[in-house]
Amino acid sequence: MTPILICNWKMNLTNPDIESLIVAAEAATRGQEKDVELVVCPAFTALHKTHGLLKLNHIRLGAQNMFWEDKGSFTGEVSPLMLTEVGCEYVILGHSERRGHCAETDEMVNRKVLKAIEHGLIPIVCVGETREQRESGQKEVVVMEQVKKALAGVQNFDRIMIAYEPVWVIGTGQAVSPKDAESVMQLINVTLLELFTGDVVRSKITLLYGGSVDASNIGGFLSEKDIHGVLVGGASMQAEKLQGMIRECVRLSS
Ligand code: PGA
Repeated sequence: MTPILICNWKMNLTNPDIESLIVAAEAATRGQEKDVELVVCPAFTALHKTHGLLKLNHIRLGAQNMFWEDKGSFTGEVSPLMLTEVGCEYVILGHSERRGHCAETDEMVNRKVLKAIEHGLIPIVCVGETREQRESGQKEVVVMEQVKKALAGVQNFDRIMIAYEPVWVIGTGQAVSPKDAESVMQLINVTLLELFTGDVVRSKITLLYGGSVDASNIGGFLSEKDIHGVLVGGASMQAEKLQGMIRECVRLSS
């Protein structure tokens, strides 16, 4: 499989920083384009310019969020039409920072997922438990519920990504172990099999791990059977670390 590396740049980086990161990413991928699926997700304001930088190569573009309607009186929101217009192919939905800071609910995430699919965008749906939920033994229930609610009513789609991100390790430098993440992936697979056929789950849904991934631990995650890729914040904003992660993806590509 080709490992997937999604870079979530959050509310960071202006155009000059992005340009140098893209140059670094290109240098690390040159000649190995088929061995890594690399997606960069800058802020909305940088999408257009970033797409221009990516035109001649294989690095893909994603957004960090979108609204669930095509257009209308939704001040401050961005529609899927606007994302596809600037060349986005992917969109991160339901990130824990949006659930936490912007009160995004499972129902809102679900509406966004359905809308993204309608417009041919690949949703990267984030799920994961908080520290309190894990410590009180609710990890499994929380993740299963989030997956089920996010995908309610989903029928025809080309591709969906589910990113398991334990909320309490994001941005801490302390990832969970690959085995811990793999056990949650198996649980997600069981949940997905309640919603779709085995064939659909195998061929159309990819599972990612996110939360303090960097060049030193990415290999462990990608070596797990059910982890097809990673969603990375902090380490994806530093050229050397980004290059290190790309090299690991290439090394593990089969
Ligand atoms: P992190 O962020 O890699 O900095 O932990 C991951 C994420 O929030 O998607």
